[in-house]
Amino acid sequence: MSISDESFQKAQDHEMANWVKDTSNVSRLLYELVEHSEIAGPLDRYVKTPVVRSLEVGVGCFGLGFLAAHFAHKAGRIDGIDPLPRLDINLPDADLQRYVDAIRGRVHYQSCIGERMPFDDATFDLVACINVVDHAQSPESILKEIQRVLKPGGIFAFSVSTLSFAGEKKWHFNRWRKPNEWLFVAHPHTYQWTRADAMIRSFFPNVLWNDQPSTFKQWAGKGRMSYWIVQK
Ligand SMILES: C[S@@+](CC[C@H](N)C(=O)[O-])C[C@H]1O[C@@H](n2cnc3c(N)ncnc32)[C@H](O)[C@@H]1O
Repeated sequence: MSISDESFQKAQDHEMANWVKDTSNVSRLLYELVEHSEIAGPLDRYVKTPVVRSLEVGVGCFGLGFLAAHFAHKAGRIDGIDPLPRLDINLPDADLQRYVDAIRGRVHYQSCIGERMPFDDATFDLVACINVVDHAQSPESILKEIQRVLKPGGIFAFSVSTLSFAGEKKWHFNRWRKPNEWLFVAHPHTYQWTRADAMIRSFFPNVLWNDQPSTFKQWAGKGRMSYWIVQK
């Protein structure tokens, strides 16, 4: 499902503001460096040897992303794309600044949308798209584009925020009450786990691993980041 150009622009304006305010914030940088470590171990099992080319879609305008921070030992050359421009980071801790610069230096950053990427078919051995599609204009078009640029046999690490049945009802009620709140504007799409699972399987039926929540959590649990590793 796609949203209008206007809604996407509004989502991106909110997204940008959320990064710009933290370019000197040590806690936020440390958080960005460690988050999504849940998928690093499983990915390490499925990507057995280092690959030549990898891509991170929606890498975030700090230019860090998941692959450069967690998977550089196997990711080869890392291209990173995001619609937003890469921001300068100026930290008050010189050692952390050097570390962050080293991670950012691993990513070949380009500003573009995941729905239309400037890469040839079957370019990448490994693609990651972590916590992106619920922020985007057309999640399905991004998955289709990832399918295009991934080599046959290539690995795709995917994650999206998922809500329980009850949680999604509450989300929609709160969005109706406060439609301009950051959380709702910046997340134009919502997923329950089963819908996200059906979406990823419709493009990549060969699911190698996921962290499926229990049935109880799918009905009444808290919102969470859900992960899949699939193979083309
Ligand atoms: C919540 S941030 C996550 C950033 C990073 N993946 C991470 O996990 O830290 C969502 C990112 O998706 C990007 N994004 C939104 N729409 C996109 C699109 N159509 N194509 C690619 N990236 C997009 C946003 O600009 C933002 O940087």
